[in-house]
Amino acid sequence: MQMEKLVSLCRRRGFMFQSSEIYGGLNGFWDYGPLGVNLKRNIKNAWWHDMVTAHDELTAPAGAPTPYEMTGLDCTIIMHPQVWKCSGHYDLFHDLMVDCRQSNRRYRHDQVRGRWVEAKGQRIFVATVVETSEEVDDVTRRALKFFNLRAKNADDLAWDGDFVSLETIDDMSQVLGPDAKELGTLTEPREFNLMFKTIVGAMGSERDAAFLRPETAQGIFVNFKNVLDSTRVRVPFGIAQIGKSFRNEITPRNFTFRSREFEQMEIEFFCHPDSSQGWYKFWRDRRMRWYTELGLAGERLILREHGEEERSHYSRGTSDVEYAFPFLPKGEYGELEGIAHRGDFDLRSHMEGKLDENSPGLEVQLGEDGKPKYRGSGRDLTYRDDLSGEKYVPHVIEPSAGADRATLAFLCEAYTEDEVPDEKGKLQTRTVMKLHPRIAPIKAAVFPLVKKDGMPEIARDIYRAIKQQMPAFYDEKGAVGRRYRRQDEAGTPYCITVDGDTLKDNTVTIRDRDTLEQWRVKVDDCVSEISQRVK
Ligand code: GAP
Repeated sequence: MQMEKLVSLCRRRGFMFQSSEIYGGLNGFWDYGPLGVNLKRNIKNAWWHDMVTAHDELTAPAGAPTPYEMTGLDCTIIMHPQVWKCSGHYDLFHDLMVDCRQSNRRYRHDQVRGRWVEAKGQRIFVATVVETSEEVDDVTRRALKFFNLRAKNADDLAWDGDFVSLETIDDMSQVLGPDAKELGTLTEPREFNLMFKTIVGAMGSERDAAFLRPETAQGIFVNFKNVLDSTRVRVPFGIAQIGKSFRNEITPRNFTFRSREFEQMEIEFFCHPDSSQGWYKFWRDRRMRWYTELGLAGERLILREHGEEERSHYSRGTSDVEYAFPFLPKGEYGELEGIAHRGDFDLRSHMEGKLDENSPGLEVQLGEDGKPKYRGSGRDLTYRDDLSGEKYVPHVIEPSAGADRATLAFLCEAYTEDEVPDEKGKLQTRTVMKLHPRIAPIKAAVFPLVKKDGMPEIARDIYRAIKQQMPAFYDEKGAVGRRYRRQDEAGTPYCITVDGDTLKDNTVTIRDRDTLEQWRVKVDDCVSEISQRVK
């Protein structure tokens, strides 16, 4: 599937629009349209339902060491600035970026790629940030321009090796920046903190600076004791949260994949250190299964265990659920969710203070005065088991998913082009979004075959009845074939048509979006038939 086709469908049919589009858009920000809002909400609701509300705390699910409890939170986006100092985000949440002195553009160091080329006795590195499918054209065009060659003399360019990251280049003086005309205009890489800063209150001084949260997780950690004290949960238990997060990404790209405002669906699961590896494995497999159950089955979805060198120093295991998005080079996957065993790093940081990021253990980093660089809350965040009397800092398993990336993956997977016969039996290409019925924005569309003979009245009654249970759509305009196509593009799993036979035997036709199978049911059974099928 070509990504451009999906992007165009998303805009045309109202799944997604660029934010502030009438003013030229704002890079890294996206709005969900009438179909998209339902799709994303259905994904978030499915996650909350499957992970929290429908979870049976009385029995251990397959693969779980014991039964466990689940509960939820909804925390603020702006939190006490000390939270981010103790979490490590204030000091460590940065990307390396390079600036171009000529174009005044800024790029993420690891996202600039390029190729070495030699012509007229000079060897240069032509850098680019355009999509992979277009990068060859981009560097060729710019190398020709740099060496003052015509397109017909492209053979004079002697390319040396394949595309490599700018990270491999030591000498910036030989680099032609992605938007530069001269060599050596890119700066050395510098750190850039990704947290959005804001000011709280009317004084407007630096002392009132605060940050938009870059993850929802910290709200859960700082409320750990509140949840324990206000409920009867016992370890092992999980706290779930869905909410907006913000990261000032240097180069947002690939549609909604890397946005500056996005939504996360995170669980912090608290368990005894001795059983933490068992819980880590349980959550890794449970989360992978969730995506496959909702339609991401197949070779495009993988679970990848990180090697030791890739893991944070505190992590005792990390796996990513990854998807082969169509905008990525062949063989590459993009992260949908990370499942991390975080040990007791977070609770201990909020209790004792900011820890040394280079420490293999959990030593408190000391400032020049011999005290921790950032003091923690000083609150006791240990857990006391009321049965065994044991007191300990629980270990945490964190399944952290992105609602927007999941939505994008479901859209990519759903996009299908197939051939179906039209009314005259001629094969026509149709575009169909094969979304799982649980997440489809509209569950059923109702059509009268023609706008007369009492058909619209019956169809409207069926539509109203379905609407009480689930999102439905009524359409009486144009040829019925065209109405089917519009619903196929919207991902509507079932279309109900009221026709001439309805007037005789009180039955309607139901058409399945994927198989195109059609069957008749009694008008009175329509709602229960659709409800059962979209469960
Ligand atoms: N608390 C852990 C944490 O935030 P992360 O890997 O940085 O971990 C978790 O983020 C998930 O959030 C990612 O797997 C991804 O789905 C989503 N996410 C992160 N940055 C994003 C961005 N810039 N745009 C869209 N989604 C993003």
